[in-house]
Amino acid sequence: MTRPSWAPPGIDLDRPSGSRVYDYFLGGMHNFEIDRQLADQISALSPQVGETMRANRKMLRRCVRFLTEAGITQFLDIGSGIPTVGNVHEIAQDRNPDAKVLYVDIDPVAVAHSEAILQDNPNAAIIQADFCDPDTILSHPEAQRLLDFSKPIAVLILGVIHFVPDEANPAVSVARLRDAVAHGSYLAIVHATQDGQPPEVLEAQKLSGRTSTEINLRTGEQISEYFDGLTMVEPGLVHLPLWRPDSPEDVGEHPELTGAYGGVGQKN
Ligand SMILES: C[S@@+](CC[C@H](N)C(=O)[O-])C[C@H]1O[C@@H](n2cnc3c(N)ncnc32)[C@H](O)[C@@H]1O
Repeated sequence: MTRPSWAPPGIDLDRPSGSRVYDYFLGGMHNFEIDRQLADQISALSPQVGETMRANRKMLRRCVRFLTEAGITQFLDIGSGIPTVGNVHEIAQDRNPDAKVLYVDIDPVAVAHSEAILQDNPNAAIIQADFCDPDTILSHPEAQRLLDFSKPIAVLILGVIHFVPDEANPAVSVARLRDAVAHGSYLAIVHATQDGQPPEVLEAQKLSGRTSTEINLRTGEQISEYFDGLTMVEPGLVHLPLWRPDSPEDVGEHPELTGAYGGVGQKN
């Protein structure tokens, strides 16, 4: 296929990407036919997977609102994705125009679109970097310009760590980030799980192997370890709709069928 004008040169147009499949599930425009085909196959196997992705984005919004209300003015959003409705800087800067947001993503489409929407925003930026290389993120000139590491920062890693295999030691990256931030900082994580999931969801999740970033499902117990040494904010690590829902409609009838856990911990 020919490369659309919004797609940066050099990207593989014949292979679906996790960020573009997610964009399609959220109703975004920055995806290719190959991404839509995979998303439709996943939906045919299990409509629940798309629901989980939408629940992830809703949790992101509630989480950023909670953090701004808790007084957080700096956000490090790793694996931030292709900008869509309710981006972190929009929510945070709505309450506090001086709030600082550094986005990080490995995907060139996510980076190109974020650069475009942030060009007139001096308090937010995107860098292309890998969660597995936290030192490059922490020492990046944009991180040093935007973030004051002597003051509390919210580190957001939502819907990302499940793309990282055990061999790449995601727990080590998370620990490095936890160590780098000041007391009073928060860590928010959403991570896909196999806990309580019917077999068709697991089949659908396996299809992610067609992208360059296959999903690694982990148990609630494994995901809890990323919060080592932190105090969990109520209600702890829970299925996404159960994390501080705005209304009973947010929760639905079977929140446990959402194939991901979410939680927020604070460094005391
Ligand atoms: C499902 S999207 C989540 C987007 C956003 N965090 C949200 O919750 O709505 C996952 C994003 O993580 C990015 N990603 C995956 N592996 C990554 C890595 N190792 N380092 C940085 N970003 C990564 C993908 O490119 C994609 O944009």
